[in-house]
Amino acid sequence: MPDILVSDDGPVRTVRMNRPEKKNALTLAMYDAMAQAIEEAGQRADIHCVLIAGHDSGFCAGNDLNDFVAMAQSGALGAPILRFLHALARCEIPLVAVVNGRAVGVGTTMLLHCDHVVASDSAVLSTPFVALGLVPEAASSLIAPRLMGHARAFALLVMGQPLGAAEAKEAGIVNAVVPAADLEAQALAAARTIAALPAEGVRIARRLMRGSVDDIIARIDAEAEAFKARLASPEAQAAFAAFFNRKR
Ligand code: COA
Repeated sequence: MPDILVSDDGPVRTVRMNRPEKKNALTLAMYDAMAQAIEEAGQRADIHCVLIAGHDSGFCAGNDLNDFVAMAQSGALGAPILRFLHALARCEIPLVAVVNGRAVGVGTTMLLHCDHVVASDSAVLSTPFVALGLVPEAASSLIAPRLMGHARAFALLVMGQPLGAAEAKEAGIVNAVVPAADLEAQALAAARTIAALPAEGVRIARRLMRGSVDDIIARIDAEAEAFKARLASPEAQAAFAAFFNRKR
């Protein structure tokens, strides 16, 4: 079974992360497949909404830390990561996310690009970038303060304080918190409702609401430069080693 599953149901395209044995940690191939699915959906007149989904085992454990170790050695940030982040920023049709369980790192920051987020009551969002020796990415340093104010964005992005589902709703990241048993159905219903609206009006409203895409892309790229430098830092190397050597 592929690590990314793409399926179209009328005007709703579902892009599902499907690597449960690694809690949906994203590999470069997964970033590429997700970027491709989002880019293509934006070009298709018959697709009006993209639903980003995870797995029963969790939404997404962030970037695969093995890839971070390899990137620190090569000195290059994987191109598929930027391709995916740019695809999120440039996407012209609504993005809906359905979040079950843990959303770590980019698992959380990708939600900041979504228009509607439905979470299970057990969802936990976290961005432990700074504790890992890294810096925030995916334009989260721009979007999160805008969304929730500097102090709450600082607690999330810099202090790495996790947000439970109710707190994420209160912070404005999540629209609805529902029991896990109802999660997928409610998220799909929301995506279908959005997809049934006049598509051109949705695109225009969304474009006006999101502000400058160029600013978002520029922030993604600036963060990526800092991130690349931090990957080779002693703090990041120690944090990656600690994760892989942790006792369980
Ligand atoms: N990169 C690589 N592998 C990862 C991973 C990641 N980001 N997240 C989880 N995995 C792997 C684990 O190494 C483990 O593999 P193994 O069974 O071969 O040893 C497997 O996925 C299951 O993870 P585990 O930690 O046992 O699951 P858990 O339910 O106890 O915890 C998480 C889930 C997501 C809380 C925990 O895995 C975690 O903190 N992962 C790292 C998250 C992270 O720091 N991401 C980067 C942010 S910038």
